[in-house]
Amino acid sequence: MTYSTLCWTENQQAHTAQWLNDPRNPAPARLMATDHLNSREALRLMHQQTGIIWRGDYHQGKQLLAAIKKQVRTQAKTAADFHRYRLQQLQHSRLFQLLLVEIQPGFRLDNPRAPDISPALTDIYPVPNQQTWLMPLHLLLGYIGAHEWHKTGVVIEALDQQRIHVPFGVFSPLRGEYLTLVANAALPDTINTAWDIGTGSGVLAAILARRGIPAIIGTDTNERAIDCARANIQRLGYEGQVTLSHTDLFPAGQADLIVCNPPWLPAKAGNAIEAALYDPQHHMLKAFLQQVSAHLNPNGQVWLIMSDLAEHLGLRAPTALPQWIEAAGLHVLHKTDVRPQHPKAQDSGNALFAARQRETTSLWQLVAN
Ligand SMILES: C[S@@+](CC[C@H](N)C(=O)[O-])C[C@H]1O[C@@H](n2cnc3c(N)ncnc32)[C@H](O)[C@@H]1O
Repeated sequence: MTYSTLCWTENQQAHTAQWLNDPRNPAPARLMATDHLNSREALRLMHQQTGIIWRGDYHQGKQLLAAIKKQVRTQAKTAADFHRYRLQQLQHSRLFQLLLVEIQPGFRLDNPRAPDISPALTDIYPVPNQQTWLMPLHLLLGYIGAHEWHKTGVVIEALDQQRIHVPFGVFSPLRGEYLTLVANAALPDTINTAWDIGTGSGVLAAILARRGIPAIIGTDTNERAIDCARANIQRLGYEGQVTLSHTDLFPAGQADLIVCNPPWLPAKAGNAIEAALYDPQHHMLKAFLQQVSAHLNPNGQVWLIMSDLAEHLGLRAPTALPQWIEAAGLHVLHKTDVRPQHPKAQDSGNALFAARQRETTSLWQLVAN
């Protein structure tokens, strides 16, 4: 991790603090500090690339950020809109990064009514800061929220209501409908080995283990996902059945069942978390389909989980996925559909609401020709 030093003047005194360099999160051009500001004035300053160091009450800072976000909300209904929506999301997230808080050495926040932020930051940065940091409040709130979710866990019906715990930076199985599809689908007649490609939290590997498959391998390119999956698999007591591997797509060899829930939308990811949701031109999905038959045992099956949200946004032709399946030397044995139940699908304020209302999630059970 590299740092740069930011300087500003406050009450006629020179101040400095460190900034954690990240190409997606450039340092503000100039800085000011305040403990009172309305959202309109804050937005005006932010549009001028002025970073605002919030000295006021912590909860008022949160309200200010929420008011700023409300002012810049958008609706996307078509593909052209979707690309504009993504661009705006990126521009907005750059804007939101300009409302800052000063983190004191040892992960301490001195704003009035601030909570203890040290457990949340320790999840992300194992060594506490020795010097003062400036951090976007938006990012800090993301870390705090993720820390709380990590502690609480997500209840998984398909795992007998047991919980999956997911830290910041790993895909969380909040939408349970696809898990039920995997829990209920008929397994191949002979099933000794299964792979879960892009295992994330390890939730699908755990569901397969619960179904009694003796040898399962979960892979992921995200190291945080592998650590998270390992912790979940151990907590659930499936470490005798499940091995995890930091691997691009497939391990060596063949399996009786190969499951994959790839990112669903063909778009550029803005950050590491989004890499589980967005994949430019469906790169992972296409590579998975092209290579999967070579890894299937005779009479083996491929289980692909996909939503058609990209089709409703005009980002993928409805004929494309069946064509890619056919080109990969596979055919459809069975397809089970489910309508999303998650809150975003019912939220008319969600930017993608029009498309989400029509979304179907499917489990494609595929076999080699
Ligand atoms: C939509 S998430 C699914 C996570 C989990 N299987 C689930 O269903 O909750 C997709 C996962 O694929 C992983 N991934 C993306 N590209 C990959 C690749 N080339 N090889 C292995 N994993 C990959 C991502 O890091 C992410 O964890």
